[in-house]
Amino acid sequence: MNVLHICADPKPTEESASKQLAVTFFRTLAEKNPDINITNVDLYENPPPFLDYQAIRGFWFPVFIEGHQPTDDEQLAGAYGIEQGEVFNESDVVVLTIPMWNYSAPAILKAWMDQVLSPSVTYEMDKNGTRPLHKVKKLILLVSSGDVFAEGDARDALTPMVLNAFADAGIESVSIAWADGQYTFKYNDAEKRLALAVEAAEEAAEEVSDELSGA
Ligand SMILES: Cc1cc2nc3c(=O)[nH]c(=O)nc-3n(C[C@H](O)[C@H](O)[C@H](O)COP(=O)(O)O)c2cc1C
Repeated sequence: MNVLHICADPKPTEESASKQLAVTFFRTLAEKNPDINITNVDLYENPPPFLDYQAIRGFWFPVFIEGHQPTDDEQLAGAYGIEQGEVFNESDVVVLTIPMWNYSAPAILKAWMDQVLSPSVTYEMDKNGTRPLHKVKKLILLVSSGDVFAEGDARDALTPMVLNAFADAGIESVSIAWADGQYTFKYNDAEKRLALAVEAAEEAAEEVSDELSGA
């Protein structure tokens, strides 16, 4: 089983709730799948460039302009997305470790998505719809937030943004472990909330193992 882990949190693990979810998720997954192949991408060590005009031309113009062949400059501008897309396309599972920042994901994750979830990189798109170029069967979100969020909370701009973008790329099977209420100055049950989310991360790993054993 090939697993791609994208980490969008710059904090050390012991200070990061979302990274602690990742530790449990991957420990459980590795225990159940000894032959697992994990690619870790720490976005703060390998930062994506913001999508620029040349990269947009290279990725998107072939969809709109028949016969448009990306130039060398356009391909160079999209090199990060193309390289990451190759790993993405060979993955069975994609795991995103995401702290909530300003009700959404850190900009560095959005920059990675703008590069990688592009036509001709991870999916093809034309008037008949989209066809995946990847074999990703499952998306896992390991999220942490300071405040408490009910399911479907209108303030949550993080999960709709990520889920809609991945659904466009043909990935709709998702599990979420969310440690909310991590503002310890505000919620005296923050630790209990983290423990419950760690349990959810463990369950998500067991579920993926059962669903994809042999992948
Ligand atoms: C720049 C920044 C913006 C934040 N914005 C929000 C927010 O909009 N809503 C929220 O509930 N918590 C917010 N927080 C709190 C974090 O989500 C919280 O501390 C969470 O535990 C961070 O995840 P981590 O522990 O994995 O780093 C913000 C924190 C930072 C640093």
